[in-house]
Amino acid sequence: MPNSAETIIRVVDLHKSYYDGEAELPVLQGINLEIYMSELLAIVGASGVGKSTLLHLIGTLDRPTTGSVLYDEHDIFTLPDTELARFRNKEIGFVFQFHHLLPEFTALENVAMGALITTSNDKTVYKEAEALLDYVGLSERLSHFPSQLSGGERQRVAIARSLINKPKIVLADEPTGNLDRRSSEAVLELLWDLNSKSGQTFVIVTHNQELTQQVDRVVQLVDGNISSG
Ligand SMILES: Nc1ncnc2c1ncn2[C@@H]1O[C@H](COP(=O)(O)OP(=O)(O)OP(=O)(O)O)[C@@H](O)[C@H]1O
Ligand SMILES: [Mg+2]
Repeated sequence: MPNSAETIIRVVDLHKSYYDGEAELPVLQGINLEIYMSELLAIVGASGVGKSTLLHLIGTLDRPTTGSVLYDEHDIFTLPDTELARFRNKEIGFVFQFHHLLPEFTALENVAMGALITTSNDKTVYKEAEALLDYVGLSERLSHFPSQLSGGERQRVAIARSLINKPKIVLADEPTGNLDRRSSEAVLELLWDLNSKSGQTFVIVTHNQELTQQVDRVVQLVDGNISSG
């Protein structure tokens, strides 16, 4: 990354342990990481090393044991839970390791939901949701339920859902993890296209070699720390 690149997120000496009674399981052990505006950053590492844990902390879904995450130099974990949730909903889009679509809602409803919470103008939201589903190639699947969609289609719905509030940052955990080659290529194309068109910042956890070859930067998680790769 050039020196002129603007830092959007700064992770400082981040530690996360899980506890089972008295027993401590240290997962992240002092992560320092800068994420730059508009970059496509990949995080790689062995299973169980803490990639999802790190992504969840960056996404404010969980709080660290110690250390901080700064957004535009503001320490985000100083906010109380309600404000943190508001910030998250507005600024961050998530594509989870398992798509987490709600089974009893249609593709269109799943995409719209995140915006319906914060607005009274449902009609505009549904229009926007439809446009996003069209963009990810699913205009013929608006009223399908998750169980009626293929794995790749579900993941594309999940991507559309992550974009509904026009977040500055999109965090994706193994977005191509459970997909065959063709669906995974379609999802990758979509992410690159989005990144180049929207200028949004993407942080993607992945095992996909094809993906890591085409991102701006790759960082590797080893034994609770970043080893630059
Ligand atoms: N809520 C939790 N409570 C206790 N331990 C947890 C919890 N979440 C994760 N862990 C443990 O923390 C470690 C890191 O988990 P994490 O899910 O972050 O790994 P990962 O790198 O994403 O792995 P994978 O590539 O398999 O998805 C693992 O050993 C896991 O068992
Ligand atoms: Mg994981």
